[in-house]
Amino acid sequence: MNLDKNSNIDAQYYENLSFVERKSVVFFGVQSASLGDFSEVALNLNYSPIYVDNLELKKEVSPNESLGISQLQDFHFQLPTVISIVTPDAREKATAHASKLGFQNFPAFISPSAIISSNAVIENGVFVNTAAIVGQSAHVSRNSVINRAANIGHHVSIGEFTHIAPSACILGFTSIGDRVFIGANSTILNNIKIGSGAVIGAGAVVLHDVLAGQTVVGNPARVIKG
Ligand SMILES: CC(C)(COP(=O)(O)OP(=O)(O)OC[C@H]1O[C@@H](n2cnc3c(N)ncnc32)[C@H](O)[C@@H]1OP(=O)(O)O)[C@@H](O)C(=O)NCCC(=O)NCCS
Repeated sequence: MNLDKNSNIDAQYYENLSFVERKSVVFFGVQSASLGDFSEVALNLNYSPIYVDNLELKKEVSPNESLGISQLQDFHFQLPTVISIVTPDAREKATAHASKLGFQNFPAFISPSAIISSNAVIENGVFVNTAAIVGQSAHVSRNSVINRAANIGHHVSIGEFTHIAPSACILGFTSIGDRVFIGANSTILNNIKIGSGAVIGAGAVVLHDVLAGQTVVGNPARVIKG
């Protein structure tokens, strides 16, 4: 087995390890601005990242060390694969693309500095970034992102491909749909329902339910779209 010389891991070192000893993770979606965050979490987990350029974009837009699709070896498809994109639509597209290519293993990817309650549920494909907190009986559905220092309260449920931006605070029993974007430093009060595809502006304080597809901003939050 031989890795391309452009890989970020040393081919000889890799050759000398059996499959189970390789603690590698594939990052799929290297054109994302959030790649640094994903790499930092990998470093903290002692994983060595392998960067895969999902669109086969060339050097101008992707790190030199990334592998193009055509350079992948069979074993890459079995490695834990993390979609290194946080925005809902792009993350969903990249996930579908990665699955279609044959990647099979999309575990939850959780920073060791995150605090996850013992009875919280984190589904496959979820990224929990540095210093985030997920409270008692919270449920985070597949492929969502809990970004830096976000605080997910007890019994909160979060749908699929939803992005909770840095330092957002979601209070107890609130329910958030699929493909929702919750802006940085916003606060969603307890027992609120946020419909699928809604957008919550940065710094918003949400006191009432938000319907699917609506955008709300400000304190108290008001609807500006939908
Ligand atoms: C909510 C948001 C998506 C709206 O974007 P948009 O649809 O392009 O909206 P616009 O910029 O055209 O603004 C529309 C109006 O809402 C206001 N507005 C926009 N975002 C606002 C916010 N976060 N708080 C208060 N008012 C806001 C604008 O001032 C404007 O008001 P006006 O019509 O009186 O001039 C965006 O402003 C936002 O807050 N994004 C979140 C960013 C973030 O948290 N990123 C995290 C990255 S990890």
